[in-house]
Formats: sequence, structure tokens, C-alpha cells
Amino acid sequence: MSRSAHPAGPRHADVMSDGHYLAPADDLNVLDEKVWSRTVTRDEHGAVTVGGLTVSRLAEEFGTPAYFLDEADFRARCRAWSDAFGPGADVFYAGKAFLSRAVVRWLREEGLNLDVCSGGELATALDAGMPAERIAFHGNNKTVEEIERAVAAGVGRIVLDSFQEIVRVAHIAQGLGKRQRVQIRVTVGVEAHTHEFIATAHEDQKFGIALAGGQAAEAVRRALTLDGLELVGIHSHIGSQIFDMAGFEVSARRVVQLLAEVRDEHGVELPEIDLGGGLGIAYTSEDDPREPHEIAKSLGDIVTRECEAAGLATPRISVEPGRAIVGPTAFTLYEVGTVKPLEGLRTYVSVDGGMSDNIRTALYDAEYSVALASRTSDAEPMLVRVVGKHCESGDIVVKDAYLPSDLAPGDLIAVPATGAYCRSMASNYNHALRPPVVAVRDGEARVIVRRETEEDLLRLDVG
Ligand code: LLP
Repeated sequence: MSRSAHPAGPRHADVMSDGHYLAPADDLNVLDEKVWSRTVTRDEHGAVTVGGLTVSRLAEEFGTPAYFLDEADFRARCRAWSDAFGPGADVFYAGKAFLSRAVVRWLREEGLNLDVCSGGELATALDAGMPAERIAFHGNNKTVEEIERAVAAGVGRIVLDSFQEIVRVAHIAQGLGKRQRVQIRVTVGVEAHTHEFIATAHEDQKFGIALAGGQAAEAVRRALTLDGLELVGIHSHIGSQIFDMAGFEVSARRVVQLLAEVRDEHGVELPEIDLGGGLGIAYTSEDDPREPHEIAKSLGDIVTRECEAAGLATPRISVEPGRAIVGPTAFTLYEVGTVKPLEGLRTYVSVDGGMSDNIRTALYDAEYSVALASRTSDAEPMLVRVVGKHCESGDIVVKDAYLPSDLAPGDLIAVPATGAYCRSMASNYNHALRPPVVAVRDGEARVIVRRETEEDLLRLDVG
């Protein structure tokens, strides 16, 4: 599908809300490998398959809506990231994108580390056997109880996010007779080109301690004086779903500058810098994400160059990709319930899920693609909006897309690139039952997070 300035004569209905014209792909049956996980293809009957299993069979066995996660692709992406960064750097998978015990085991086996940001994520990581020293603990308001559990478990690092937290973690560690390895999260003042709600390095937001006005330098000063802390580095995360490497480069440069200031003031060279996550993925054919080796090279080069200029030994770099690892590995499979053509506008296709399994479209205006998955069709393309079954008109899964005009109730459609921040942000709105996550690999499918049941809902309702 391609989005361009209006060519001659688009139908009024095909002019999108952002003023662009969305042209249908030449052949709607073709699955663009940019947005589908690696083992996805169509079988000889035209049905979409993943890991060798057709969606019709998967839907029969596991129901819809459901997320199908391509385990081979997930593991390949883990390896691509750790190979790209090499043994001199560390890759932390950001668990907030999607976390389950199986995911933790895959990460452990593939040699990745794990970034958690809540007691729940920490509990999942430890329960599934992630060694504590490979866990980083994040968050702008970790509770005392969460900090105690993290320190007691022996997490490899806690990323400090405020002046209060510096003292809080030091106090807790000391009380437990420990010296906790910590990094300080700084706000580098970069405007990342992404949705406002997921940009995190400009000054007017809640995360980190600003480099501006000497705040971060003061945080370092305080952390260095506290016995309970071992300050090992500086952390910066500039936002999410970012394609342009320029923001990361500015961030790396400013973090290295701080390391040089710390060396000058305290005679200490902090050995680590973490440049966060945030690398974008392809949700539609229009998106052009960077490959891990390009990212590793560009970050490595800039840090090395800046450190050389400042006379510093190059610190150990770490990164925290979440979306870029799990995002492309899953699709959501829905069954079409109703098809409602609105004359002169578009056709509304209602599916059996919606904003409860993918809030991203409503929340960030996110764009997704969609394909007819249970069969192919040579019917004319029709402009559609894929909507859910919830009680509001903003319940949109795919805002603008084309599907074949013979689409009918009972067809299965699949929305690719839903591995990140869909199941993890799913809700029970309208008492929807959150869908399962099914891992598929080499002809076998296995539920890794089961579908919720009405009993699950009622169990919490103790009134
Ligand atoms: N590190 C830190 C400190 C973070 O806060 C995040 C994401 C990551 C790493 C991973 O970022 P990623 O590589 O996945 O972009 N719910 C939003 C995204 C929020 C991201 C929050 N922090 C979405 O659906 O787009």
C-alpha cells in the first residue's frame, strides 16, 4: 500500500484524514515481508500460515481474537541484536513490550538481558529463571516494596529516576547490607520525532533528571557519596517508535559529555552508558526501520568518537529494544462479524476484538495494515476501516486500509506487527476477555498466555 500526495482523480472517499491518498497495493493477496513475521506465508490454498500452520486451523484450535507469535522470528531478532552489538555491549529486552514466562526463557536461552519496570514484571522474570544480575529495574516511581524486592533479589542494576529515589534506594540497600549497582537516568533535551505520549527526552515530562541546569551532575554528586550505591553509569531513553538516528546521536553525545564532566570533577570514569530503546518497526509498507547492525554501528561510532575526543575510555554500551524485537513477531487474528458499506465514505468491517486487544490506534493514532488471511481473493479492493466490538466509535483497529470487496462474515483477517504493546496494554473494557498469546514454531502451536475466561473476571469481583 502506498501513501502519496493526491494523484490525478482519487475518489473522494480514498483521501485519508491526513490529506494523503492511500493507494491499494497492486495485489492485496501479497504479504509484504516488511510487516509480517519471518515464517508467515500463504499455503497452496491461499491461506496465511505461520510456523507452518494455517490460520484456519489455528483459529479452530485457539479461537479468535488471538495473538500468534512466531517464536523462530523472536529468537532470530534476539540473536540479530546481540550479534550486532557484540560481546562488548549488552542488550536488554524491554519487558513492557510483551512479557511472559516463555519469553523470559527465550531471552535467557538467547543470551539477552531483561529490563523490567514493575514488581509484576520483576516477579515474572524471576519466576521464569532469569538470573537477577541480568535484570535492570526501571520506573519513575518504584515503590519501596518494589525496590526492596529488587535489591534483595540482586538485580544487576536499578535505574534511578529522581533525587528522592537516589536516597531511597541507597537507604534500602544499606538496610539490606548491600551495595546496589545503579545508573542515573538523564533527560538529554532531545525532541524525538514520534507521538507526544511516547517521547521521553524533552524537558517537560516526568522521566529522568535533566542535564540542563546541572541537575544530572548534582544527581551524580549525591549518588557518589552514598554507601549503599555503586554508580556504574548514565542512562538515556529518548522515546519510542523512532526511525531517525539523529536523536540517539545527540543523546549519546550529551551523555558522553556528562561522563567527561564527572571525570573532571570526581576523577571517576563511569564504566557504562545505556542509550535506551525506542527503535521503530514497520507497521505499514511505508515504514523503513533500521536494521540492528546499522543501529549498533551508528551508536558505537558516535560513542567511540566522542569518548576519544574527551580522552575517556569507551564505556560499555547497552540498549533496551522492546518493540524492535517482539513487535514484528506477532499478528492478531480476528473473525469478521459484519461488513457495513457507508455509501461515498468507506466500508466498516467489525471484528470480534478491538480496542481491548489493541489500544494503540485509539491512543496514538497508530497505523496498521491488514490482510484477508483465511483465503485469497481477486475481488476489487475496497477502502475499509477495521473496527472492534466495543461501545465507542473510537474503537478502531486499522484506520485506513484496503481489503477485497467480497469480504464476508466468517472470513479471518490478520493485523500484523502487533507483538509489542498490544497484549501488554490490553484491557477488560466492556468486560472483554483478553485474548491468548499462542507461540508457533516448526509446525507446533503452544499457548503461552491463555485466553481469559468469564470466571477470571468474576474471581476478581468479590462484591
Ligand atoms: N527503555 C525504557 C526506559 C523505556 O521506557 C522503554 C519504553 C523502552 C526501553 C522500550 O522502548 P521500545 O524499544 O519498545 O520502543 N506504549 C507505547 C510505547 C511506550 C514505550 C515506553 N517505554 C506504544 O505502544 O507505542
